[in-house]
Amino acid sequence: MLIRVLGSAAGGGFPQWNCNGALSRAAWDGEPHVVQRTQSSLAVSADGDAWVLLNASPDIRSQIGTTRALQPRRDQPRRNSPIKAVVLTNADVDHVAGLLSLREGHAFTIYAAGRVLDVLASNRIFDVLAPACVDRRPLALATPLQIRDHGADLGLTIEAFPVPGKIALYLEDKQAGPDLGTSEGDTIGLRVRDANGSEFFYIPACARIDEPLSMRLHGASLLFFDGTLYDDDEMIRQGLLAKTGRRMGHMSMNGPDGSLAAFASIPVARKVYIHINNSNPALSTASAAFRTVRAVGWEIAHDGMEIAL
Ligand code: MLT
Ligand code: MN
Repeated sequence: MLIRVLGSAAGGGFPQWNCNGALSRAAWDGEPHVVQRTQSSLAVSADGDAWVLLNASPDIRSQIGTTRALQPRRDQPRRNSPIKAVVLTNADVDHVAGLLSLREGHAFTIYAAGRVLDVLASNRIFDVLAPACVDRRPLALATPLQIRDHGADLGLTIEAFPVPGKIALYLEDKQAGPDLGTSEGDTIGLRVRDANGSEFFYIPACARIDEPLSMRLHGASLLFFDGTLYDDDEMIRQGLLAKTGRRMGHMSMNGPDGSLAAFASIPVARKVYIHINNSNPALSTASAAFRTVRAVGWEIAHDGMEIAL
């Protein structure tokens, strides 16, 4: 199985279009200790030929431009694409807006939890993906599903499972109480497995690690995990946005409730932070945060990172 990180940044990318914060500034200025990143998405393939995208970011067109394996094949018809399916982990803008760039009457399949398919169905702009050729298939939770293209088995099995999280920002219901109207299926994690039994987990958004999630990840060989913020209040302290990570549905890396502490007691062979916000100091290889994260064995994903299992 081949995994390619198409985009490693959180919503907004890095640098973010309107951001003059210290990290974005360094990225705009091309400083060597930071690397620009596009928005959150992975590509996976069992054979290197047919590819499945995990989330479709607004940067998808440039991601295809820098990823030869995702470009139309020279020896195939005038219209062709190695992208056979897109699996969505939530309805956040950074994970679904790229679908709109996959219009042009091309057949592929979208897999998502029922809650997220409902969001697509209720926004008519997504009908640019002609329902006659773009299939939308529900991912039942905790039920492994073989990914297919026109009936052909792509050699990948995907299991969706619920993770603590939040409904998409633009769907928050402020009257609904502290959960803002969130229901099961609004945020899922994915376990992706090939025919040889190689597998990895992809969890780009997670509000906390509860007991079921901790048990599920125990002993995993590879995990891509929510690396949005380093400190829960960093966006407030940096004068960027008056919101904590908690309020956004993301657990942070640092602190007693953070992922660094949580994974100290969950054995996982290879751990990679992804969906990293432009406020996260770990984006800078010159930061103490970066050194701390690396010292306990975490990696920070970068665009173009490739892993073969
Ligand atoms: C998130 O990850 O919290 C969202 O992508 C935020 C957003 O929609 O901008
Ligand atoms: Mn996001």
